[in-house]
Amino acid sequence: MKIAFPTDEHFPFQDERARSIALNIVRDFNPDVLISGSDGVDFYALSKFSKNPKRISSFQEDINSWKEGQKEWKDAAPEATRVFLKGNHEDRLRKWLWDHPEAHSLEALKLSSLLDLEKLGISFSDDGESDWCDWEFTVGGTLVVRHGGVVRKASGMSARAELESERYSISILTGHTHRGGSIYARTRKGVVQAHECFCLCGLEPEYVRHPDWQQGIVLAEVHEGSLTVESIPFSNLRAIKHAIWRGKEYRS
Ligand SMILES: [Fe+2]
Ligand SMILES: [Fe+2]
Repeated sequence: MKIAFPTDEHFPFQDERARSIALNIVRDFNPDVLISGSDGVDFYALSKFSKNPKRISSFQEDINSWKEGQKEWKDAAPEATRVFLKGNHEDRLRKWLWDHPEAHSLEALKLSSLLDLEKLGISFSDDGESDWCDWEFTVGGTLVVRHGGVVRKASGMSARAELESERYSISILTGHTHRGGSIYARTRKGVVQAHECFCLCGLEPEYVRHPDWQQGIVLAEVHEGSLTVESIPFSNLRAIKHAIWRGKEYRS
């Protein structure tokens, strides 16, 4: 099974050039499973932090642009099963509804309705009521893919914390940190590994200066309990964003 995990697009703060590279790599990889969501929409309007007044009125536009983006992922991987994983940003909707219980029963405000997941052909495990950390995609006892809930200071440290949270019993792919980072450990059951899977959003958000974030994409292949993971960082070559994967250069 081949899995592609483009994570943390944060529409409307996505980086289209990073997405373009990721889309082209996914097109060549031809995955069986493509993960969607995982902080795909920022849900900026529902943030509890101070908001830029120019941005707050574009909630529907933000969702519409994410849906357009999903069509691009479908076009890049037409055969793939697309699986939605809720991130903490999509979980802002649940928190907002719990703060406004009078709106909670509205079908139109369920996460799957708001994002049109069925119409987009994206599968989801519930209607958004559970905590984002409970959303995961597993491949037997070999791999779990989830948005992740840990942010440690340095690259790879959050991956290690996620592995410790599973007591080194299964390999893990996570988003959330907006960084790449990998760790491997030999156990009595074999090698387990955990990977932070970069981000596809812009690298200069309005709430923090020059964060240590990296753009890229992670691909995984599981075959009879054996796991191979490829972490592909993107970099800037003067004004061009680029990546090298399996001997091919991708530019945007
Ligand atoms: Fe994120
Ligand atoms: Fe996150």
